[in-house]
Amino acid sequence: MIVVENLVKTFGGFRAVDGASLSIAEGSITGLIGPNGAGKTTLFNVIAGVLQPTSGRVTMQGHDITGLAPHDLFHRGLLRTFQIAHEFPSMSCRENLMMVPGGQSGETLWNTWFGRKRIADEERALKAKADEVLDFLTVSHLADHKAGQISGGQKKLLELGRTMMVDAKIVFLDEVGAGVNRTLLNTIGDAIIRLNKERGYTFVVIEHDMDFIERLCDPVICMAEGKVLAQGTLAEIKANEQVIEAYLGTGLKNKDQVATV
Ligand SMILES: Nc1ncnc2c1ncn2[C@@H]1O[C@H](COP(=O)(O)OP(=O)(O)O)[C@@H](O)[C@H]1O
Ligand SMILES: [Mg+2]
Repeated sequence: MIVVENLVKTFGGFRAVDGASLSIAEGSITGLIGPNGAGKTTLFNVIAGVLQPTSGRVTMQGHDITGLAPHDLFHRGLLRTFQIAHEFPSMSCRENLMMVPGGQSGETLWNTWFGRKRIADEERALKAKADEVLDFLTVSHLADHKAGQISGGQKKLLELGRTMMVDAKIVFLDEVGAGVNRTLLNTIGDAIIRLNKERGYTFVVIEHDMDFIERLCDPVICMAEGKVLAQGTLAEIKANEQVIEAYLGTGLKNKDQVATV
């Protein structure tokens, strides 16, 4: 579904992504792991159009999408969530979901004058959709809570919910489990699996929690120093010498600790 070829992203002289090549299979939940500073977030940012690549190519279903703006990619069904959740704090969770652009006709002057009924219909549909998403994520009880007042984990769920307001094809999740308690992490994991199985979403998941990766992801890709070191099942990745070296370089004592990074 996504093919990344020789991607390079430099900051000043520093090669944060240094010739990364990888492919993401349609229908997969692909894990992306690697020590801090490996270039994972930067890779996501380049694929999702947040950053322009220095060189290299990204294709989606055979179409060149290199350097396209996030909103263009959004309309093609490529979405990303952020390491830090981006909610509108003073709006309710339901309203936050309703804010996701999805072809509402509310904005134009023509519509405000001539399309009141249509806008009302759309708003009703949008509200129903938002409630359906909250229900899917098992957080209907948060619909009227201000998004700024829910827990960090619940904000991550809301981020995932935003991807469900549009017809996403592939979703990039950056550390969806960071700072999230075990119960909520399981809820997030369940939602990802269901979206994958029932709605055909493809996922790419950056996560440090190896239990989470093990439960969800096949294959797993490991990056270090801007490069892709290995791709395979988590077991294969854990046994890979270069991967062990990369994690050892971060001060770990043995390969078992790869599992706990
Ligand atoms: N905007 C930036 N300017 C300069 N350096 C950056 C910037 N973003 C990331 N980096 C550097 O690029 C490297 C990769 O960062 P990042 O992609 O965030 O890694 P990861 O997500 O794997 O932890 C790090 O050394 C980081 O300091
Ligand atoms: Mg990161």
